[in-house]
Amino acid sequence: MHLLSSDDLSKEQVEKIFDTVNQLKRGKVEISLREHTVAVLLFEKPSTRTRISFEAAVAQLGGASIYVDSKTSQLSRGESWSDTAKVISSYSDFIIARLFNHADILELAKDSSVPVINALTDLEHPTQAISDIYTILQKKKRLKGLKLAYIGDVKSNTANSTMLLGAKMGLEVTLIGPKGITPNERYFLKAREYGFVDFTNDIQEGVAEADVIYTDTFVSMGEEEEREERMKRFMPYQLNQQVLDMAKKDAIVMHCLPAHRGEEITADVIDGPNSIVFEQAKNKLDVEKAIILYMLGIKG
Ligand code: CP
Ligand code: NVA
Repeated sequence: MHLLSSDDLSKEQVEKIFDTVNQLKRGKVEISLREHTVAVLLFEKPSTRTRISFEAAVAQLGGASIYVDSKTSQLSRGESWSDTAKVISSYSDFIIARLFNHADILELAKDSSVPVINALTDLEHPTQAISDIYTILQKKKRLKGLKLAYIGDVKSNTANSTMLLGAKMGLEVTLIGPKGITPNERYFLKAREYGFVDFTNDIQEGVAEADVIYTDTFVSMGEEEEREERMKRFMPYQLNQQVLDMAKKDAIVMHCLPAHRGEEITADVIDGPNSIVFEQAKNKLDVEKAIILYMLGIKG
């Protein structure tokens, strides 16, 4: 009923979502939301892509969305997640939430009578992972056996969701990061049940033969106070031309964005010929439409 983790969907369910994305892209199927469908977007953190693409997706499917910034709602004055969930789910057909703590989205979902879709928490970014893996399939025409090298903050929300869903969908995932920062154990072990997942401090070893190189910010939302320390630790793991040269010649460079040129990735790499970051961002719209249709039981 809810999409809180990238582990909430089976491989077959994700494949159904991909089928719907293809149909939407071909413009062949007339699919729309039931009349008067209302989505509530409940956001505690900033967003450019996820908010706008979800609002556009809902609008283009014929529904309406209401954006609620936690600061301007009674959440800011301490109203509980449970009461908030009971109330907003009685006004809407589904909820898209971007929250700081993953535990809070679990609580929101527990008392929501409508589906809740995770639009990012400290632990996960499942809709991003679904969209990114769709993009890899679109570019490479297969997933099985492709090597995805995730370099940088191996403990981030995108690392967790990408390794989990990537391994489930057949990618071979190698996480590459500095000594002293290990991947989230629960996600790492779970992902290993699905397929090949590895972690190394050695950039050459981790990136060699990669078909996809993925990175994300070194300082995620909510970690601003640790900025100095994080930059020191992660800068040796910057995705630059020298690192890109270690991968396959036709490796694609991915980043969920927003990017910080000169930090986790250099401008020549993100704006260079191997980068597909804007195509990756664009796909969020169609993939989110397919996720909405799936979650509402309309398609797939
Ligand atoms: N990739 C992503 O989630 O971007 P936003 O923070 O802009 O939504
Ligand atoms: N890891 C990043 C992802 C942004 C889309 C963050 O949480 O800020």
